[in-house]
Amino acid sequence: MNKAVEIRKLEETATLAGGPALPTLRFLTCGSVDDGKSTLIGRLLYEQDLIHDDQLAALERDSKRHGTVGAEIDFALLVDGLEAEREQGITIDVAYRAFSTARRSFIVADTPGHEQYTRNMATGASNCDLAVLLVDSRKGLLAQTHRHAIIVSLLGIKHVVLAINKIDLVDYDQAVFERIVGAFQAFAAPLGFSSLAAIPVSARFGDNICRKSGNMGWYDGPPLLAYLEEISVEENRAALPFRMPVQWVNRPHLDFRGFAGTIASGRIGRGQDVVVAVSGKSTRVERIVTADGDLDMASAGDAVTLTLSDEIDIARGDVLATADARPEVADQFAANLIWMGDDELLPGRSYLMKVGTRTIPVTVSAVKHRLDVTTLAEHPAKTLRLNEVGLCMLTTPAPIAFDPYAENRVTGAFILIDRYTNATAAAGLIAYGVHQATNVHAQNLAVTKAARARLKHQRPAVLWFTGLSGAGKSTIANLVDQQLNARGVHTILLDGDNIRTGLNKDLDFSPADRVENIRRIGEVAKLMTDAGLIVLCAFISPFTAERQMVRDILDEGEFIEIFVNTPLEQCIARDPKGLYKKALAGEIKNFTGIDQAYEAPESPELVVGHDGASPHQSSARVIAYLVEQRFIERFDTGDWSI
Ligand code: ADX
Repeated sequence: MNKAVEIRKLEETATLAGGPALPTLRFLTCGSVDDGKSTLIGRLLYEQDLIHDDQLAALERDSKRHGTVGAEIDFALLVDGLEAEREQGITIDVAYRAFSTARRSFIVADTPGHEQYTRNMATGASNCDLAVLLVDSRKGLLAQTHRHAIIVSLLGIKHVVLAINKIDLVDYDQAVFERIVGAFQAFAAPLGFSSLAAIPVSARFGDNICRKSGNMGWYDGPPLLAYLEEISVEENRAALPFRMPVQWVNRPHLDFRGFAGTIASGRIGRGQDVVVAVSGKSTRVERIVTADGDLDMASAGDAVTLTLSDEIDIARGDVLATADARPEVADQFAANLIWMGDDELLPGRSYLMKVGTRTIPVTVSAVKHRLDVTTLAEHPAKTLRLNEVGLCMLTTPAPIAFDPYAENRVTGAFILIDRYTNATAAAGLIAYGVHQATNVHAQNLAVTKAARARLKHQRPAVLWFTGLSGAGKSTIANLVDQQLNARGVHTILLDGDNIRTGLNKDLDFSPADRVENIRRIGEVAKLMTDAGLIVLCAFISPFTAERQMVRDILDEGEFIEIFVNTPLEQCIARDPKGLYKKALAGEIKNFTGIDQAYEAPESPELVVGHDGASPHQSSARVIAYLVEQRFIERFDTGDWSI
């Protein structure tokens, strides 16, 4: 289930449980493996009588099977979701639990402590207002404690509780407690938390969890639960400037046009003026429609449909704001990325960015530095790997509306999606926008692309031949080029091996350099379409994201992807340059199809080379396509007539 939906449902349950209308506290627990996070949450639920009898029976059964605490109930098992995770003995995803006491409702995100699961912690933390950091009294602060504290602070969580656990195992010793607290205070000073409490606890025996422990006369603070019930974390999103990302345009009939979405921050009243952030167009709110009737005023968290007094252009993904406090609008910005992908970040690669309700291509143009999340040190870096955090420069093809994350945790956050696997590649926190840093402004060209193309009696296009080395891309592209040239069509052929001896002489075959190879070629091809040419490109171009990037920078319909789908075995058998032989012998590294992946196109305009057709027949199919789609005029004479 979508996490946002899941949390919303949990909130409903939390209220339904009969809790009073106190603001729900969303908190997360984090700590190293075995620090006892899950035990702590299990204990909280158990002592609140929030475990149903059937769950308890199952728990007793499971404790005998998997538990690590002998015959007693292992509360950790209550929280450690999946069977597979239990078998591994570690939590590997974020588990959300809702519970209420007489005073307050809670949603707790239990995040894994294992080092490689920092990404899960970031996922859980982004919705929370408070973090409970667990420390094992015997071990004191660990690198992981520092890492969690830094990520918690990076994610804008202002309130921290240091739960110093397993205090029973150090004989409830005040000196141990104070040593750990002192060290943490010194470490956390630069992290800017607005509240920091330290509580000595034993999750296993319940000391200072729900009830004050009788074993630590020296501790005069409240137990954990009482502290969580009392603390005020009112971030008050309603007090921030008004932002509403438009989720969809609701037009059930001609007389109604509404813009539906959830208010991310601030409030809006009927009759108030609003602007569309990117276009700057302004209008007035006529009605605030909800499922339960119209409202005079709505605020952060409300799902509403706004009707506006003017018919201005607004689409899904637009952000509505008030004119006096607008979000930033830019196509270049700096953001902290928390890398979550198994594949490392490739600067220059096109990812998808989901910011608010908008999804737009984005490229990371540079990594400014990698942050050592254990020491806060900044290191130079070219890439980010799983669980690494770094400040990066990003660019989008069109301006987007956002706020710096430090000012707004909703409109300042985004995720990056890998275009090939559709997996989340990173969580992003916008630091600042870059405005006209280079003083570059697009010049209008007096002679347009259309005018140039008209002279040539053709429509510009890019014929992009992709496939394995030895698939026949260059051979087919050459034949197409010859035939077009013979018929008076203006073309240019860009070929992998040739470009790599000139423009891209500095690049090798690492994934990062292949990304840059195609990025440059894409830009060159685009310039050549501006000249009105039909551009033939023959490159392995093994990655979906880069082919998609070239498609994106060209005009609609201009990119014609031709998959030369010769099976690998056949390419190996042909081996025109003897490269497969070397690659198979391990003499060449990063060879496509051997020790580096080829991501086959999912919906290319044409597929050739797989059906036993000769190169001539394949080239004829390409030309037929160009005629059919009216890029060129029909040939009526000669050998190549169609
Ligand atoms: S791409 O992946 O970056 O698009 P490109 O098409 O420019 O590759 O270059 C591929 C050509 O470089 C191949 O046809 C082959 O002749 C040569 N080559 C040399 N080393 C490699 C390698 N490791 N992988 C693929 N091709 C290689």
